[in-house]
Amino acid sequence: MRKPKVFVTCPIPEAGLDVLRGAVDMEVNMDDRVLTRQELLAGVADADGLLCQLADVVDESVLAAAPRLRAIANYAVGYNNIDIAAATDRRIAVTNTPGVLTETTADLTWALILAVARRVVEGDAMVRQGRFRGWAPRLLLGGDVYGRVLGVVGMGRIGQAVARRARGFGMKVLYYDRSGISSSLETELGATRVSLEELLRESDFVSLHVPLTPETRHLIGREQLAMMKRTAYLVNTARGPVVDEAALAQALAAGELAGAGLDVYENEPEVHPGLLGLDNVVLLPHLGSATVDTRERMAVMAAESLLDVLEGREPRAGNLVNRGVIGVFKNK
Ligand code: NAP
Ligand code: GLV
Ligand code: GLV
Repeated sequence: MRKPKVFVTCPIPEAGLDVLRGAVDMEVNMDDRVLTRQELLAGVADADGLLCQLADVVDESVLAAAPRLRAIANYAVGYNNIDIAAATDRRIAVTNTPGVLTETTADLTWALILAVARRVVEGDAMVRQGRFRGWAPRLLLGGDVYGRVLGVVGMGRIGQAVARRARGFGMKVLYYDRSGISSSLETELGATRVSLEELLRESDFVSLHVPLTPETRHLIGREQLAMMKRTAYLVNTARGPVVDEAALAQALAAGELAGAGLDVYENEPEVHPGLLGLDNVVLLPHLGSATVDTRERMAVMAAESLLDVLEGREPRAGNLVNRGVIGVFKNK
C-alpha cells in the first residue's frame, strides 16, 4: 500500500521527524527560512499531510492546490495562519500544539515585563559600550513590578500561567476574557474579572494573551492606549495585529505610556520603524516557545496529531482545531 506523503515546511526537532519516519514518506525543508508561496504550493501538490509553521499562510488557494490533503498540523498553538473554515469545508483536519508551550511562553512574557520595567536591555548596552561609570543615584531608574497591578487580556492557558507567576510578585491581577474562568480558579490566581476599559485604566502592566481573530484584530488601538496610565507598560506575546502598531509607536513616542515589551509584530518580520528608535521598548524576535525542550514537545505533538489523522484516529483531546471534521474519524 502507498504510504501517506507528508510535507514538512520547516526544520522541526528530530524527535518529531522520528515519529513520522517509517510511517510516511516525508519531504522536509531543512532550511531556516519561510518557504515561498511557490514552494509551499509545490510541496502540498501530492501531499496527504502538511506539517507547517505559523508564517506559512495556508489559505483557500493552497488547499485548492492540494487535492489529496487530509491533515494539517500547525507547529504552533495559534492557528490564525490557516483558513479553518476552508479546511473544514474540504474535510481536512487541522491540529495545533496547545499546552506544551504554555509555561515557556509565560516565562518569556515575564522576561519582557521585567526587562522593560527595569531597563535590562538598556543597562546591558551601557555596560558593553563602556558607558558604566559606577553606581549612580539617577542611573536608569525604572518602574516597580512587585506589588503593582497586572492586567491579563485573554485568560486562557498562557494568560493563567502569567497570572500565576504574578502571585510571587505580590501583584493584584485583573483580567478581561470572553468566557471567564471559574470562581475557584479566580480565587487560586487572585484574579478579578473586569471590563477591558477598567483593566486598561487600572493596570500597571497590560499583557495580551488572546488569539488573533477578526474580533481581536486591533483590540488595542489609539483609544485603548489612551486609557492606559502614563506609567503603565504594554506587553504583547500573543499576535502582532492584536495591537495597532502605528498607534503604539505614536503613543510611546508621545510619552503616553511608559514602555512596551513585544515578541510579536503586525507584519512579521517587519517592525514599525517608529518602534526601532525608542529606548523604552524591548523587542524580541517571536521567541515565546523557543526553548529546546518545548520545541521538542511541540514537534512530537504535531507529528503525532498528523499521524493520528492520516491513520484514521481522532487526535488527542484538545489538539483538533476544527471539530467540524470529527465525522471523518473511525473511532469517534
Ligand atoms: P487559549 O488557551 O485559547 O487562550 C485564549 C483566551 O483568549 C481564551 O480564554 C479565550 O476565550 C480568550 N479570547 C478569545 N477571543 C477573545 C475575545 N474576542 N475577547 C476576549 N477574550 C477572548 O490560548 P493560549 O494557549 O493561551 O494561547 C494564546 C495565544 O498566544 C495563541 O493563540 C497564540 O497566538 C499566542 N502564542 C504566542 C506565542 C509566542 O511565541 N509569542 C507562543 C504561544 C502562543 P475562550 O475560552 O472563550 O475562547
Ligand atoms: C507561537 O506563536 C504559537 O502560537 O505557538
Ligand atoms: C545597592 O547595591 C545597595 O546595596 O543598595
